[in-house]
Amino acid sequence: MNLEIREPDDMHVHLRDGAVLALVLGHTAARFRRAVVMPNLDPPLVTVSQVLTYRERIRSLATGRLDFEPWMTLYLHAQTTVTEIEAAAREPSLIGAKLYPQGVTTQSGSGIHDPLTLLPVYEAMAERDFPLLVHGEDPDPATDPFDREARFIDRTLAPLCRRLPRLRIVFEHITTAGAADFVRSESSRMAATITAHHLLYDRRALFHGGLHPHLFCWPLPKTTGDREALVRAATGGEPCFFLGTDSAPHPQNRKESDCCPAGVYSAHAALELYAEIFEEAGCLGRLEAFASENGARFYHRPLNPGRLVLRKVPWQVPESYPVAADYTLVPLRAGETLAWSVAGREAVQP
Ligand code: DOR
Ligand code: ZN
Repeated sequence: MNLEIREPDDMHVHLRDGAVLALVLGHTAARFRRAVVMPNLDPPLVTVSQVLTYRERIRSLATGRLDFEPWMTLYLHAQTTVTEIEAAAREPSLIGAKLYPQGVTTQSGSGIHDPLTLLPVYEAMAERDFPLLVHGEDPDPATDPFDREARFIDRTLAPLCRRLPRLRIVFEHITTAGAADFVRSESSRMAATITAHHLLYDRRALFHGGLHPHLFCWPLPKTTGDREALVRAATGGEPCFFLGTDSAPHPQNRKESDCCPAGVYSAHAALELYAEIFEEAGCLGRLEAFASENGARFYHRPLNPGRLVLRKVPWQVPESYPVAADYTLVPLRAGETLAWSVAGREAVQP
C-alpha cells in the first residue's frame, strides 16, 4: 500500500548544533520540506543576527537537500527589546519567537521567570502579526510535574489571551485533553503542535517494567485519556492542530545517567510514526492536512508544491546512531520494526 501526500513540514524540531547537527538535519530534510527550528542552543539564540548565523550553518550542511527550508525562531529572554522583535518580524526566514518559562526544560535557564512581564514585547509581536510559540508549562517548582501544563493555562496562557486578543499563539507539544480544548476555544488565533511520542505513549509507558529514559521529555506524557484526546485532536481534521515532532537528541551516556535530560529523538522516523498513528485511528486520509497543510496555513505560508510517498514496507530502526567519539544517539523505537517507510520526497516546480 502507498500513501502519497503533499510534502510535509515539521513545525517544531531541535536540530541542535555541532557534531549532531548533520545527522539530525539529514533525518529531518529527508522527510520534511520545511521545519520550524527551536532556538534553545547553548547559549540560546536571543538576537536576530545569532539566529541568522545559525541558519547559515544549517544551510551549509543541507547540501544533499538544497530545497530544505529552515524556519527560524528567536529565544525570548528578560532583556528582549521591541527593536529586536521589529527586526525579527522583518526577516522572512524568522517565523516567530519562542517563550520558555524559566527552568522548565533543556536550555530554558535564560527563559522568562514570570511570562506575563513581557507584555510590551508581546504587544509588538501582535502588532506585526509575529506569532508567539510557547512551551506551555508552569515554572513554579511547587507545581506537580504532571500538572504543569494545566497550571500554565490557568496562570499564564488564559490571562495572556485575555490581555492580547490579537496575538497569534502556537501552544507547543500539547499533552492533555484540557490543552486541546483550550486551543479549540481560542482557535481563531491559536493552534497547537502534537508530537508523535505523545500520541503513542502515556505515562504508564514511561514506567512500564522500569524507568525508560529515552521516553523522558518535557512536558511529561499524561494519562491514557489524555493520549486518546490528543489522537482525536490530531486525526480529527481540525485546522488548529498540526505536526511538530519536538524531536530533541541527547547523547546516550547522558540519557542513561543518574540525571537524565529531557528529550525524545524521533526525527529518524517521524512521518512513519505519525502514519502508524493515523492508520491505527482509521484516519490515514487526514494525515495530509495535519502534516502538510494546517501548519503552513496557520503561519500564512504557501503549501509545498512537491509530493511525498509513504509505503507500507517494514524496516528496522537501528539500535543507535554514531555521532562522535563521545556521542551515540538512541532513537525512538530503537531496534524495533516500523510498518511504514518514506520512499522519498520529490520537489516539484510550481
Ligand atoms: O523534552 C524536551 N526536550 N522538551 C523540550 O521542551 C526541550 C527539549 C530539548 O531541547 O531537549
Ligand atoms: Zn521543543
